[in-house]
This record gives sequence, structure tokens and C-alpha cells, in this order.
Amino acid sequence: MKINNICCIGAGYVGGPTMAVIALKCPDINVIVVDKNEDKIKAWNSDDVNQIPVFEPGLKEIIEKVRDKNLFFSTDIKEAIEKSEMIFLAVNTPTKTNGQGKGMAADLTNIENSAREIAKFANNNKIVVEKSTLPVRTAEKLKEILEESSNKISFQVLSNPEFLAEGTAIKDLFNSDRVLVGGDQTKEGKKAIDALVDIYKNWIPEKKILRSNVWSAELSKLASNAMLAQRISSINSLSAVCAKTGADILEVSKAVGADSRIGNSFLQPSVGFGGSCFQKDILNLVYLSKINGLPEVAEYWHQVVKINNYQRKRFVNLILEKFENNIFNKTISLLGWSYKKDTNDSRESASIYVAEMLLDEGAIIKIYDPKVSNSQILKDIENILILKDINAQERTQIMNRVKIYNDVYQSCLNTSAIAILTEWNEFKNLDWLLIQEKMTDSYLIIDGRFIIPRNKLPKKLNLISI
Ligand code: NAD
Ligand code: UGA
Repeated sequence: MKINNICCIGAGYVGGPTMAVIALKCPDINVIVVDKNEDKIKAWNSDDVNQIPVFEPGLKEIIEKVRDKNLFFSTDIKEAIEKSEMIFLAVNTPTKTNGQGKGMAADLTNIENSAREIAKFANNNKIVVEKSTLPVRTAEKLKEILEESSNKISFQVLSNPEFLAEGTAIKDLFNSDRVLVGGDQTKEGKKAIDALVDIYKNWIPEKKILRSNVWSAELSKLASNAMLAQRISSINSLSAVCAKTGADILEVSKAVGADSRIGNSFLQPSVGFGGSCFQKDILNLVYLSKINGLPEVAEYWHQVVKINNYQRKRFVNLILEKFENNIFNKTISLLGWSYKKDTNDSRESASIYVAEMLLDEGAIIKIYDPKVSNSQILKDIENILILKDINAQERTQIMNRVKIYNDVYQSCLNTSAIAILTEWNEFKNLDWLLIQEKMTDSYLIIDGRFIIPRNKLPKKLNLISI
């Protein structure tokens, strides 16, 4: 079955880059990316490619090549569904904030709404591809919704989870370690799997394309994220042991990672993992384990998230200790807001939690990030204060203690401490002598990313790492 037209519902961090790469690698396929968010689609269509809503190295160059040739961004979901033989779902699936499974299970409202739209507008047989990260057996539910209102139209549901990491999305999509395609093990299901595999074969070597049943594909995605995050929490838990014993976590990480059975990736200690997915997907796995009567398994994975929360808190405690537990009215600069370098995404960034804890202690904070917009930073802080049930008047008072800068040196002016929260390359080569001159007292640099070279710092500065 040759696919000529595809569409993707959801023009976010996954939908945008994945469809751009498919359009680039498959010039004979027409790709439409649709979203209900009009502003986002406008931004994707903006004449100035620097204004596209996702910052990813290499993405804007691809957009320049393929946009309006075989890649289109639109809000017309009906037309996109009608035209396409294959429909990807790359909508967000956040943690539920109410109802059954609140705070744990994935909220599938966007997935279900998309399925209803497909059922409503589909005029012929469709292959529906889950790109979003979903709990095991979502495909079953999707099929039910699709088949509820459609007469004589047949749907095949595939699971094709996305493994790209932000900041390296284009590289990851060009050279994926593996592409996973799960589908029904029936004749029709296998035909649908082949149709999707044929698309990937345009640039991914066939030996890297794994076929499986739908449930395995869905679970493999949760399992991969859980195991990656588990390594970070493992090394971070050991960083706490290092702080108590005098061992050096970088030396421990190097020694452990040198064992080829363990490997050295995802062993970088940090202020804690962030991003929209690790915590969400682990909590989802915890919930799945619980409802399947596996409390020990649920608790095992829950610890990964608990250690991450602990690490953020430990970071703030390290600052507090240096100020004898009193940072009231102290000015602290936070360098980096995104959850990792090379992305403008700040979802679940450790910086949000660190900022909130510092503000709670009465500190004044000055923030600098090279890519996250000032309005997003303010929104992130406001949102966490709302989540903590802080009333509007108090919120305004707290927000008055937040200042955002577009120049890193300005953000360090008159500060007592500087916290490094994101590993942006530009922080590796700062003029520390200039920064020292701008600081007022204490001269504390607390590095949550291990990027500040100890031996290059002027004498007055006092560097500690997480
Ligand atoms: P996102 O929030 O950046 O984008 C999702 C988009 O879907 C939004 O623009 C939203 O407006 C749109 N949307 C939601 N419901 C819609 C509907 N009914 N109709 C039309 N548009 C709708 O999210 P994301 O980061 O791209 O993540 C999407 C999914 O991919 C999630 O399940 C996530 O877990 C998974 N994932 C994300 C990453 C990542 O790096 N961000 C990597 C792998 C997998
Ligand atoms: C992660 C996975 O790496 C992707 O494979 C997956 O597709 C994606 O989640 C998803 O499902 O959304 P991402 O969150 O974009 O990708 O970025 P990572 O590179 O995994 O980093 C996540 C967080 O862990 C960041 O805050 C990063 O700074 C932190 N981290 C990472 C560490 O603290 N130490 C490490 O050794 C590695």
C-alpha cells in the first residue's frame, strides 16, 4: 500500500520536527500538520523562520526547504483528515489533574478528541498512528471510538512511539537508534505496518526498524523513558552520598560508566531531570502498575520521581546552608531556565521548582535564559504559585521579586549567589572576573550541571556543585 498523503494532529515539539523530517526525506509524500491552536499554526507559517514555535538545531533549515512544497501547516483538521491515508496523532498527553488517576495517569482527552474528529470526518479507510506516548492498550480504546460512529470505514491503529530528545531532535530523527512500529498481527494490521515501514525505509536502515504487537510498542516507550530517568536518579542519589562522604560524583560516574555493560550515557549528575515526559511517563507507569495489582512495581518506579524531587530540594538546601538558612532579601541569579540546553522548552524544568523554593524563602531572583521567552518564564512561575494555592494578591507580591534579563552579565549584577540550572554552552565560557566584580557579597556559585571549570575561577568565587 503506497501512502501519498499523511497528516499529523498536533504541531508541537514532536509533530513539527517529525513531520518536517518525513517531508524532507519523502518528497513524494504530501504532509499536513494540523493543530487547534491558531497562533501556533500562524507561527509555523511565519515568513521569518526564526519565529517558528519550536527551537531545534537544524529545524528551521528543513522548514525553509519543504514548507509549502510538500509540508503544510493548517488549522483545517477536517480537510487534512479527508485528504490523508495515514493520520499521526502527536497531541499532548499530560498527567491528569483531576478525576480517577489524578496526578498519575495520562490525560487522554486530546487523543480521544482527535479520534472523534477522525471518526467524524473520515471518508475512506485510514491508518491511524499513535505518535504520542500512551498507556498500554490505548490503541484498543482508540479503535472503539473510531469505529463507534463510522460506517463501513475500516481503521488500522498502529503504535509508533517517538524517541527523539529535544535539542537533538533532528539528529535523532535522521539517525534513529531504532524505529518501532507496533500493529495488529492480522493480515490488514501487517499491511498497515508495512505501509509505515516503507515511509521510514526512505532513510532508516531496515535493520533498525522493529516490528511488534501494539501493546509491546506502547509499553516499550514508557519503559525506555523510565529506564533513562532511572539512571539519572541513580547517579543523583549517589551525588548525595558523595556530598556526605567526600567522594567525587564525576569520578564515580566516570568509573561506573567505563564498564561497558553499564555504559556512560545518562550518568551526568544534575539538579534533576525535567522536560514534559520523564515524570509524566513514569507516573503513568506507576499508575498502570497499581491498577494492575502490582504495588511493589509501582513503588519501585515511583522512587525515580521521588529522588528527582529530592535532588531539586537538595540543591536549594545547599544554597540555604551557605547562608545559614536565611536568604530573605538575598538576590540570587538563576542561569538557565529550559530543562536542558538547545531547546526553548521549559516544561517541568528543575529551574521552576528551584525558583519557587527560593522565592518561598524570601529571596529575590534574577533569571537569564538564551532561548526561553520572558513571558514563558513568568507564566511558569505564576503557574506553580497557582498550583500551590497562593492567592492573587500574594502572587503579585512574590512576582515583584522576580526579574528577567536578556543579558547574562546584567542578571549577575548585585547578586549574592549564582545558580547554574541549564548546561547552555555559553555558560561554559563566561567572563568570571567580570561576574565577580558585579556580585556584592558571598560570591557563591552553585553549579547544578557541572559545567563551570573549577580551576578557571577567580579567587573570590566560591564554587559548589550539586
Ligand atoms: P506539545 O504540547 O508540544 O504539542 C501538542 C500539540 O497538540 C499542541 O500544539 C496542541 O494544541 C495540539 N492538540 C492537542 N489536542 C488537539 C486536538 N484535539 N486537535 C488538534 N490539535 C491538538 O506536545 P509534544 O511535546 O509535541 O508531545 C506530544 C506527545 O509526544 C506527548 O504524548 C509526548 O509524551 C510525546 N513525546 C514528546 C517528546 C518531546 O520531546 N517533547 C518526545 C517523544 C514523545
Ligand atoms: C527524553 C528521552 O531522552 C527521549 O528518548 C524521549 O523521546 C523523550 O524524553 C520524550 O519522550 O519526551 P528529553 O526529555 O527531550 O528526551 O531530553 P533528555 O536528553 O532525555 O533529558 C531529559 C532531562 O534529563 C533533562 O533535564 C536533562 O538535563 C536531564 N539529564 C539527562 C540529566 O540530568 N543527566 C543525564 O545524564 C541526562
